[in-house]
Amino acid sequence: MGINIALDGPSGAGKSTIAKAVAAKMQYVYVDTGAMYRAVACYMVTSGTDLDDTSAIIGKLNEIAIKLEYKDGAQHVILNGEDVSEKIRTPEISMAASKTSAIPEVRAFLFDLQQTMAKENDIIMDGRDIGTVVLPNADVKIFLTASAEERANRRFKELQEKGDPSTYEEVLRDIEQRDYNDTHRETAPLKKAEDAIEVNTTELDLQQSIDEICRVINERI
Ligand code: C5P
Repeated sequence: MGINIALDGPSGAGKSTIAKAVAAKMQYVYVDTGAMYRAVACYMVTSGTDLDDTSAIIGKLNEIAIKLEYKDGAQHVILNGEDVSEKIRTPEISMAASKTSAIPEVRAFLFDLQQTMAKENDIIMDGRDIGTVVLPNADVKIFLTASAEERANRRFKELQEKGDPSTYEEVLRDIEQRDYNDTHRETAPLKKAEDAIEVNTTELDLQQSIDEICRVINERI
């Protein structure tokens, strides 16, 4: 059993950037569970599945094989043999993942893979339900937040750098919609675990956020 760090929080709080940096610094494996949900959504979108047709989505889960591979410390998501790590980072897939992740069968489908990775490695795993559902016995649980406006700001800049035409208002609306979806779904909604430490990064830059998370972890392990 390795050391398990659970990092949860809403969309755009900086979980993946921070988790990647902390993993590199502490020599943990970084597991991005959002990427797994995105890969499932990507399959559904690519195969033309109606995202409102829950039984069609459930029916297609057995056509999907997801693997995580690591090259130079970076996580790659392999969907049926294809590296989709880049392809899953679009606003369309973000919204599709937010929808399909509410389906309990989709969550159950990814749960084993997530738990197995945590058993086999020292990991920092980010998501929405890691501290509450996937790794309830994690050594350290962190709940990372920032205001919706600040999260939209950061995501907007990232998308602009990639040449994505989305406006700030669209990005903010998407974030608010995904917050709503994640906190209101019945199965494994986004919420702070009782024993999680909350870190708010609204006023922190990236380096300060990384330092604060490392401090919180080092204090507890
Ligand atoms: O973290 P990221 O934005 O990449 O996640 C994509 C979507 O997957 C989220 O909007 C959320 O609905 C879902 N998700 C989830 N549970 C997780 C990780 C992600 O429901 N553990």
